[in-house]
Amino acid sequence: MIEVAKRLQNVEEYYFSKKLREVALLKSQGKPIINLGIGSPDLEPPFKASMLLQDSLVEEKAHQYQSYQGLLELRTAISNFYKNHYQVNLSPQTEVLPLLGSKEGIMHISMAFLNKGDKVLIPNPGYPTYASVTQLLEAKPVYYDLKEENNWEPDFVALERLNLKRVKIMWINYPHMPTGANATNKFYDKVIAFGKRHNILIVNDNPYSFILNDKPISILRYKDAKDVCLELNSLSKTFNMAGWRVGMLMGNYDFVDAVLRVKSNMDSGMFYGIQKGAIEALKCSEMWFKSLNSVYQKRRELVWKLAKGLNCTYDEHVSGLFVWAKLPAHLKSEEFTDLVLKEHSIFITPGTVFGSNGEGYVRFSLCASEEIIEEAVARV
Ligand SMILES: Cc1ncc(COP(=O)(O)O)c(C=O)c1O
Repeated sequence: MIEVAKRLQNVEEYYFSKKLREVALLKSQGKPIINLGIGSPDLEPPFKASMLLQDSLVEEKAHQYQSYQGLLELRTAISNFYKNHYQVNLSPQTEVLPLLGSKEGIMHISMAFLNKGDKVLIPNPGYPTYASVTQLLEAKPVYYDLKEENNWEPDFVALERLNLKRVKIMWINYPHMPTGANATNKFYDKVIAFGKRHNILIVNDNPYSFILNDKPISILRYKDAKDVCLELNSLSKTFNMAGWRVGMLMGNYDFVDAVLRVKSNMDSGMFYGIQKGAIEALKCSEMWFKSLNSVYQKRRELVWKLAKGLNCTYDEHVSGLFVWAKLPAHLKSEEFTDLVLKEHSIFITPGTVFGSNGEGYVRFSLCASEEIIEEAVARV
């Protein structure tokens, strides 16, 4: 018997990796499953991005290892994107690092800054990867509450009361997944001050800022942010390029360089054609964002109808790729989603996947066509 490493003892297989097997089995048995569980964009990437990827295949060096830091042209495109959309100045030479997806970046950042036994502040509810990566590195997740009555922002009085000794990283993520909540200017000022006061690296995970959101915000726009903050971003949702695996990390030279020291020992650069396509995507005009959001707006209205049909309530003034809906009192998330799967063959995500504060909620994805969502509405 070859035992797995101890670090795996606290880490379970990712919820979707398990659940989607069950859903696939139901499908193979002939059930007409509608998948509103996962946030994998079904729309096309920008046409020019795909063309550039294709055209680049015949270029000399296209199939060789690429720079660990990515092409300067890609870093410059990211820097311009941040200037145009977030009003943030970044040096393409030192303050930008392309990543093979932002999920991988969560591991790289954690490896660069955490020692065994360090603590990490993690939102509850929040993206499950923050906690699993922390555990894989034998550091300790310390969950902080996000509550609907505070518009899913942390309570800084409660945070200050925690034992913050050994806390090295705080993960934040606005627009927030799964709730869609946006943070206020005041929140960003407060969290930066909190990080400075306690010497905690604040990492804002920002992949949803262009989805159903009029005012994309980067934490790096705020005063002193570069002293204590890093930001992760991604092309997955903004440009429907989830499978391409293009993410990016932004922040001051010292932080970015520490992450590069980890990353350059783990991968050997991003495929040339993908970098070329990504550069093109980052140049998209306002039209791209307008047309993307007009599709999601229509889908969201249908999902609201579906949520209503299931007796759920929801906040209409939110952003992101999901509808986060509250169940009627006393219903449990997992029982509810299992029932919806069984009775209507519709797969939605129980809020508890994102932490204990997700109990009593479910998450619907907008990554399905209007026809499919209409079919789901008809079924309930
Ligand atoms: C909050 C959050 N962060 C990060 C990611 C990872 O995105 P990617 O690795 O595709 O850039 C996701 C994906 O669903 C997410 O929801």
